[in-house]
Amino acid sequence: MAYRVPFVDPRKHYQALKTEIDGAIIDCLTKGDLIYRQQLRDFEQSLAQFLGAKHAVGVNSGYHALLFALMGAGIGPGDEVITVAHTFVATVSAIVHCGATPVLVDVGPDYNMDPGKVEAAITPRTKALLPVHLNGRVCQMDRLMALAHKHNLVVVEDAAQALGARFDGRMAGSFGDAGCFSFYPFKALGGFGDGGALTTDDPEIARIATLLRFNGEDRETGEYHYHGQTALLDNVQAAVLSAKLPHLPEWIEHRRAVAAGYRQGLERIEELRLPHFDESRQFDSFQNYVIRTRRRDGLREHLRKEGVETLVHWPKPMWEHPGLKLLRRSLPETEAVCREALSLPMSAETTSEQVDYTTQKIREFFA
Ligand SMILES: Cc1ncc(COP(=O)(O)O)c(C=O)c1O
Repeated sequence: MAYRVPFVDPRKHYQALKTEIDGAIIDCLTKGDLIYRQQLRDFEQSLAQFLGAKHAVGVNSGYHALLFALMGAGIGPGDEVITVAHTFVATVSAIVHCGATPVLVDVGPDYNMDPGKVEAAITPRTKALLPVHLNGRVCQMDRLMALAHKHNLVVVEDAAQALGARFDGRMAGSFGDAGCFSFYPFKALGGFGDGGALTTDDPEIARIATLLRFNGEDRETGEYHYHGQTALLDNVQAAVLSAKLPHLPEWIEHRRAVAAGYRQGLERIEELRLPHFDESRQFDSFQNYVIRTRRRDGLREHLRKEGVETLVHWPKPMWEHPGLKLLRRSLPETEAVCREALSLPMSAETTSEQVDYTTQKIREFFA
């Protein structure tokens, strides 16, 4: 079904930047620069500069950024890593695949790690905190970093959804030992396939991640230092991302304007909760605009019939997937969010007409 208001619009996104993107791709293909060439180094440098980080390491997904950041920070078998249950599964899979045990805590009403729930989850085996800056909003990093310092924990930030978001003026991904980003096509900065990067000021994490992504090989010496993985950020993706990165600030401003439009159109509907929290400290990049209502499924069906595409992130708690073999938890806010949250169309291409149409249809549902 073709939606009148699609969740995202990749074709429109490409058309808007066609000349720059085509130029970047053709340059790689013409030169034969496909793997581990200058375009990758250039993108890493631009990303590090954008975030104010000393090092950026391009990898082939946000998942690999998380995995290599954890491994680079020395997390492994026997260690526990505290993260949230309300996240994309890759956050938790990265912990499992480095051999550690994920310990899931609840989120607060802002969908992010509730700092008040962390201390009770710390045990003598806890080695790291892995906060997730969901939907383009940074966690309360002052409180989380204070806990990490108190208990001597590594902090790896999952900023897959939060490139360019800020808390107290500081960029997502710049608080802890490493920040992890995803360039999945529908992220605020997306490639034309999978991609990711980690950023860090720690030369050792950068060194280990750089080796792990290239099968453990030091390219200068040919020495294999680890059993690594085939997980480089492709050169062509890096070139495309370099062409797009300068546009990210204007795209984030556009997302914020879309969010402001939703807010204006949806305020004062009693059964609806909107995602606006502590905006004196937060600069949200609005990867997603998530509303909450007990009548979520009915609203979603109504919007579908009216041609508005929505998504549910995520309909059941992670521990209810038996294949993931996670400890059963009781995390009331996570469970409520699974029942109530609905993500509205949001992208750099979403128009004010689409926002008005969507808010009008939502108001009709609740009228
Ligand atoms: C919160 C979060 N963490 C991790 C990831 C993993 O990123 P990727 O899909 O690039 O592996 C994503 C991507 O969707 C995400 O949203």
